[in-house]
Amino acid sequence: MRTKHLLAGNWKMNLGPTHARSYAAQLKEAIQPLSKTDVWVAPATISAAVVAEELKGTALQVGAQNVHWADSGAFTGETSPLFLKDIGATFTLTGHSERRQFFGETSETTAQRTQAALKAGLEVIVCIGEMESERTSGLTKRVLEEQLQPVLAGLSADTATKVILAYEPVWAIGTGKVASITDIQETHQHIQKVWASHNLPGTAVILYGGSINPTNFAEILALEEVHGALVGGASIKLDQWLELIAIAERTGV
Ligand code: 13P
Repeated sequence: MRTKHLLAGNWKMNLGPTHARSYAAQLKEAIQPLSKTDVWVAPATISAAVVAEELKGTALQVGAQNVHWADSGAFTGETSPLFLKDIGATFTLTGHSERRQFFGETSETTAQRTQAALKAGLEVIVCIGEMESERTSGLTKRVLEEQLQPVLAGLSADTATKVILAYEPVWAIGTGKVASITDIQETHQHIQKVWASHNLPGTAVILYGGSINPTNFAEILALEEVHGALVGGASIKLDQWLELIAIAERTGV
């Protein structure tokens, strides 16, 4: 169980190396000492090394938005978990809905990527979430169970402690729409049940993601079912990102 909030920024395909370095330098300069919050950033792969270099020696951790299941080989366009370790990355996302929607990734490949990252010693934020049509058809729970199944089936008591789940309803990503407080609570509780049904120890660390901003964040983070957030748009606007960090620091863990 984490003893701090986890605030992870997914920069998506924004901030190339030059911009990423200067953003990281500004962030490093402006950030206050943290006692209740772990702050992680996931730049685009091509920017991850410069950001890791810039943030070296700080409490901020750098990771990737995706990772391949093999250590090396003929996998054009992919990134080995060993390369991420090499640049000082400590974590990766897997299964982001944009990977599933636009690049044909499945829950099975998400599980393979997760396994490889864990084997390399990375922590993994596994992203799950239903599409709007699935929600309106009452399929949310089933979709989440199907997405979790292959990932959780591959975990041991040991590796489970290195996995974080991020619930990101697809219809809430980049839309300004946020799931209701009740929906977030119920869905996170259901995810905990799925976790327990796989006989994994303890409880899952579950982040919420989807249109998080400084206005809606405090209420969501205050929920006992929510252990942090995975943030897209607001994580690449320095003023908003700093404000989210400040809110996390003010909120009881
Ligand atoms: P937004 O915060 O821009 O809605 O993105 C959420 C997300 O997809 C983070 O992975």
